[in-house]
Amino acid sequence: MMLRISVIGTGYLGATHAAGMAELGFEVLGVDNNPAKAAALSAGQVPFHEPGLPELLAGHVAGGRLRFGTSLIAAAEFADVHFLCVGTPPGPNGAADLSQLYAALDGLVPHLTRNCLIVGKSTVPVGTAEALTDRIAALAPEGISVDLAWNPEFLREGHAVYDTLHPNRLVFGVTTPDAEWALRQVYTTPIAAGSPVVITNLPTAELIKVSANAFLATKISFINAMAELCDIAGADVTLLAEALGHDDRIGHKFLGAGLGYGGGCLPKDVRALIARATELGAGESVDFLRDIDAVNLRRRERVVRETLDLLGGENRARGRVGVLGAAFKPLSDDVRDSPALDVARQLRAAGVEVTVFDPAATVPARAVAPQLVFAATPAAALHEADVVLHLTEWREFRELDPVFLRTVARGRTIIDARNTLDPEPWLSAGWDFRALGRLVEPRTPAARLAAPAAPRRDQLLDATLPQP
Ligand code: UDX
Repeated sequence: MMLRISVIGTGYLGATHAAGMAELGFEVLGVDNNPAKAAALSAGQVPFHEPGLPELLAGHVAGGRLRFGTSLIAAAEFADVHFLCVGTPPGPNGAADLSQLYAALDGLVPHLTRNCLIVGKSTVPVGTAEALTDRIAALAPEGISVDLAWNPEFLREGHAVYDTLHPNRLVFGVTTPDAEWALRQVYTTPIAAGSPVVITNLPTAELIKVSANAFLATKISFINAMAELCDIAGADVTLLAEALGHDDRIGHKFLGAGLGYGGGCLPKDVRALIARATELGAGESVDFLRDIDAVNLRRRERVVRETLDLLGGENRARGRVGVLGAAFKPLSDDVRDSPALDVARQLRAAGVEVTVFDPAATVPARAVAPQLVFAATPAAALHEADVVLHLTEWREFRELDPVFLRTVARGRTIIDARNTLDPEPWLSAGWDFRALGRLVEPRTPAARLAAPAAPRRDQLLDATLPQP
């Protein structure tokens, strides 16, 4: 008989995992303590932006294989394998707040009616699973055997469906052969086909997840540190990253210098790892991660400072800033720890008017940053802007018309804080195009006047531009 699955916590991770399990052919019950969320999902609606997920989820809800509700007792009666997908948000000192995990176990375990496997998917500090094992033993009904495994999730927002159905690796932290057998049953083809499986103990599985995210953060901050150096030395970080990436021991991915990382995972996991390692007496081992975090936050400060300088200086800055992007990354409406929104908020706090456009994240962004003005189009956000900031690298921003936008904005400076726009059309349209650690050909009229008078091929082209 096919195993039946419950997914507890239907946020980003849980909703995607539940739909993915249904896609694999399992009967799935998703449980959330928020009745509105459970009701929306039951109606086949996904309350966040994730390409492909609404279709997948609605299809399986309509087909009857996937249900959502609010009762942990119903989950206890229904499933053989329970996935814990609740949030572990940061507490006051950066350490993860595990109260949702404990609440889920307290609501589930006393009502279990048969032997089962509980599988943790949430990102947790190393040592959590062991503590949960004790709690489960204390709560389990007489005669019922409950196993605990840890199976971290590596999905990326914006690619969650693909990552769930084609994971680049599966990690099973287990303590018994039965738990391994059950997890292998769950991750049958097509999911396991081609995905390497790493079988290990509970603490290793927990640590794999946080160290993967800490490593990705380290890569990004490394290249951003090089960008700081490039800015001073007159070097170009995009070409530097390209050259580094050709060494396949380094690789090209996550060497995109710009505004740095944000979102619900990387910043929180780096800080939680520092907090947990310090608790365990291994603070020294992860001391360097404090610098990773510091480099990351400096990116935002740098853009804020440069913008305020353009608008008259830190304490006297006045004017209007048009911001392109609010989500922490493209293809997502997530604004948790969004570098873009942080920069916009800091500018507003410095007394500047800020109008933001984002293709997907306006509603969540407005909820957490009501002091900002949100526009319905890029042109409306740039209306009479003195400075334009490109802060989230949505594809559509690469297709904007700089000639038209020049007639909309009041100023002519754009800072490409993601280093993903092609400077050429902006320069040709008369913009003062600036980037982070990246060399931009000084072809604007003012920059050209300041540049040395060596004969250059593009001077012929420049002759057609309006003179300052
Ligand atoms: C991350 C991990 O990639 C994923 O494996 C894990 O399960 C959850 O955390 P996610 O938070 O969705 O996924 O975003 P990711 O694509 O990793 O990007 C994180 C941040 O880094 C974004 O703000 C992005 O803009 C930034 N980034 C990424 C860079 O600044 N430069 C890069 O080169 C890559």
